[in-house]
Amino acid sequence: MHYFNYKNGELYCEEVPIKKIAQEVGTPFYLYSAKTFTRHFKAFQNAFSEIKHIICFAIKANSNLAVLSLLASLGSGADIVSKGELFRAIKAGINPKKVVYSGVGKREDEIRYALENDILMFNVESLSELKAIEKQAKLLDKKAPISFRVNPDVDPKTHPYISTGLKKNKFGLSRKEAIKAYDLAANMENVEVVGIDCHIGSQITEIPPFIEALERLLDLLKTLEDKGHKIKYIDIGGGLGIKYHDEAPPEPDEYASEILKKLKDLPYTLIIEPGRAIAGNAGILVTKLLYIKDTEEKRFYIVDAGMNDLARPSLYKAYHEIIPVLEKKEDKKEILADVVGPICETGDFLARERSMPLLEEGELLAVMSAGAYGFTMSSNYNSRPRVAEVMVSGDQFQIVRERETLQDLISKESLFNL
Ligand code: LLP
Repeated sequence: MHYFNYKNGELYCEEVPIKKIAQEVGTPFYLYSAKTFTRHFKAFQNAFSEIKHIICFAIKANSNLAVLSLLASLGSGADIVSKGELFRAIKAGINPKKVVYSGVGKREDEIRYALENDILMFNVESLSELKAIEKQAKLLDKKAPISFRVNPDVDPKTHPYISTGLKKNKFGLSRKEAIKAYDLAANMENVEVVGIDCHIGSQITEIPPFIEALERLLDLLKTLEDKGHKIKYIDIGGGLGIKYHDEAPPEPDEYASEILKKLKDLPYTLIIEPGRAIAGNAGILVTKLLYIKDTEEKRFYIVDAGMNDLARPSLYKAYHEIIPVLEKKEDKKEILADVVGPICETGDFLARERSMPLLEEGELLAVMSAGAYGFTMSSNYNSRPRVAEVMVSGDQFQIVRERETLQDLISKESLFNL
């Protein structure tokens, strides 16, 4: 569910015509709906209200300060994977006591920064990392709260690049390694074991893999408690999928009710780390059709957003619906076309062999479901300044990240002068 809808023949974000924003901001730009973010966040909050829980929004999905501060105001915590994400979380007003730190490669300075800011817990992925955390905690004379990320070896049935809970992936510890790790951590003076964690992948569109992973986690938890370990938090990661095209992912309340069946009589605080399910359909990328190019093979719609602005189609062959901002009559003819960007690579496309309406040069297009892993994965490739981000609330809009300038492109560089 989102608030990007046609009204009187043109696409609106909430109460604002998208054309109006484009006229003021120029294209391309990311456009977010505050009402959609709020709705999605609250859907999770309500779905899990029966038990103690913390929703730790996965900042990697969308790290704009406006988005984070909106979610912070609703009570969100954060799942972070870098010092930069913690910095953003704090600037946005997210309580560090609701921050969990994931990722296989935390650097010493990052561990220190997280310790100094008293985050809720580190999700530890290896024994070497455990030792690194202990070392930094000792130097700061602190006790580092940790959980271990367990790799439950469950197939999330999603794109291989975003599967993380299989034995062959780099993430987490096997059951056997985890038991060893908990025993080791229990004897460390500057470490406190507080949780257990897993995350099996992203864009998961069915419930069973989540439940299978949770069952394995609970089974391990029992073994750990029998050995005397005290666990307070059970973190089941993120990963709930969204509808991009013809997927039919479960709603947060269906997902929650299955999880609650397993957890509601247990004394743990649940942590979930949704990213895409909150942000994905709360944002779009607005782009302009620059040129129509008909070759002997096919039609190309050449737009002003490229793979540097939205990497997902090129990287994962991901499907994003593309619709015209000015609505076409249903009986209007459609044509098979590639929607491509200006980048000098054949892999630069937003859609391939897509049935598209007949369009005119200069028209605005909305690339849907781009609120998660859209702007955050964008780059300056081809020396293209990163695009603006705009947030709508009701009948108002705010530029929440200015479009980068040419000067921004070179601001950290220098001419060679040795
Ligand atoms: N927690 C951890 C430890 C994660 O690694 C991730 C995502 C999440 C939570 C949030 O997962 P979500 O709820 O958003 O599925 N760039 C890819 C997605 C990469 C996901 C990486 N980890 C894409 O554009 O599809």
